[in-house]
Amino acid sequence: MNSTVPIVLGIVGSPRHGGNTDILVDEVLRGASDAGAQTKKVFLSDLDIHPCIACEHCAETGACAQKDDMQSLAKDMAESSVWVLGTPVYLFGPTAQFKAFLDRWIGVPKNDFAGKGGILVVPFASSEPEIGENTLHILKRSLQYRKMNHLDSIAGPGLLDAGAANGQPELLELAYKAGQQAVSG
Ligand SMILES: Cc1cc2nc3c(=O)[nH]c(=O)nc-3n(C[C@H](O)[C@H](O)[C@H](O)COP(=O)(O)O)c2cc1C
Repeated sequence: MNSTVPIVLGIVGSPRHGGNTDILVDEVLRGASDAGAQTKKVFLSDLDIHPCIACEHCAETGACAQKDDMQSLAKDMAESSVWVLGTPVYLFGPTAQFKAFLDRWIGVPKNDFAGKGGILVVPFASSEPEIGENTLHILKRSLQYRKMNHLDSIAGPGLLDAGAANGQPELLELAYKAGQQAVSG
């Protein structure tokens, strides 16, 4: 990849390809791409990322003891200036795939992600906006903990069926603009 061009990395925590998280993350990436970024997207459910086993190897050595796809994903994350973190709400929190991934950040040295930007994408079925708040809170605090910048949040209430986000042009536009803005400033 050309290092002079910003890289925006989409990380999808839903297992549904073509689902609402996927659609909204794609819109953010499309906005970023139109603003001149290189983009890449990964599906956590396509990767082998084990949950943290609290072995404390990382505290002792600075590196995670588990050898799985987290190493290559952490490399992609380090090479990107902005991450688009997407997860649907599953019982008031992120999906299990996303939480396993999030817990594994602990195996990456504390300041390695400092200064990067994060855009959050959180669809959910309920029409009540507060149903997304816990998940957004977890993600925002995780960015803050890693000294990253929270750039934008795309919360999507009322999205149950895969593809429902396609019926919400205003939400798609918000997602597109978040991607554009993250790159063009
Ligand atoms: C196991 C599971 C738990 C869910 N829990 C909630 C919930 O607590 N609140 C809610 O509003 N929607 C909940 N949903 C609905 C999803 O958040 C919603 O369908 C979302 O749009 C899925 O995103 P996706 O299309 O990217 O997979 C749940 C769905 C599943 C499969």
